[in-house]
Amino acid sequence: MAEFSLPRNSKIGKGKTVKAPAGAKRTKEFNVYRWNPDDGKNPVMDTYEVDLDSCGPMVLDALIKIKNEQDPSLTFRRSCREGVCGSCAMNIDGTNTLACTKAIEDVKKDVKVYPLPHMKVIKDLVPDMNNLYAQYATVKPWLQAESEPPTRERLQSREERAELDGLWECILCACCSTSCPSYWWNSERYLGPAVLLQAYRWIADSRDEYTGERLDNLEDPFRLYRCHTIMNCTAACPKGLNPAKAIAETKKLMQERR
Ligand code: SF4
Ligand code: SF4
Ligand code: FES
Repeated sequence: MAEFSLPRNSKIGKGKTVKAPAGAKRTKEFNVYRWNPDDGKNPVMDTYEVDLDSCGPMVLDALIKIKNEQDPSLTFRRSCREGVCGSCAMNIDGTNTLACTKAIEDVKKDVKVYPLPHMKVIKDLVPDMNNLYAQYATVKPWLQAESEPPTRERLQSREERAELDGLWECILCACCSTSCPSYWWNSERYLGPAVLLQAYRWIADSRDEYTGERLDNLEDPFRLYRCHTIMNCTAACPKGLNPAKAIAETKKLMQERR
């Protein structure tokens, strides 16, 4: 039987432990993935004891507190801290989610924090999003029209506008794509649920006049059809969206035009 083992440099060791300040009465342990590309060492899990009585309610609050008070070298992305920018996506307690909307009290034991899975890591909790953004650019995520521009806004009926609900809310956090087994194994060629939801957002837009070209662009055994309806993506989306449905709608349109 074939035996597989991880490359030596991917094995995660045990790192340091940083205690909460003396006198802290209500503490919780945060086990955080650390990897520094510059020191040539393997990744480790560092443990930080956080004083919850002087910490905000979300996991991002704890990470910011750790960075400010215990370890300034801890590296992660964040911006809006209210579930809008998508930059704080990471794997918390085994689930891809947004650190700024994940309540600490919802994690019953120690809080385990890793970068989004199956992405290259730039440092600590920061994944390399370059491939995903390059794939996003290939679906031309902007309105395309050939007809003469109107003298005012391009109008939609209420019904046409409603077609975009469940799509425009996507913040491109990549929680879905990094939960998708098809994307894990084929991320060079399969676009993945985040980008396919964005592609469908423009296909579904009544103002866009390039639906045929957009479908042509997806007509490929890998780019679209690597989705096997496993549905991890929909379960993972922290905004409650349904990328699997957007993919299914795209496949339906492909069938209808044959
Ligand atoms: S439904 Fe498709 S996109 Fe979603 S997790 Fe499954 S294979 Fe991936
Ligand atoms: S569909 Fe949801 S999980 Fe996927 S990128 Fe958009 S907001 Fe994030
Ligand atoms: S910081 Fe913007 S989504 Fe979390």
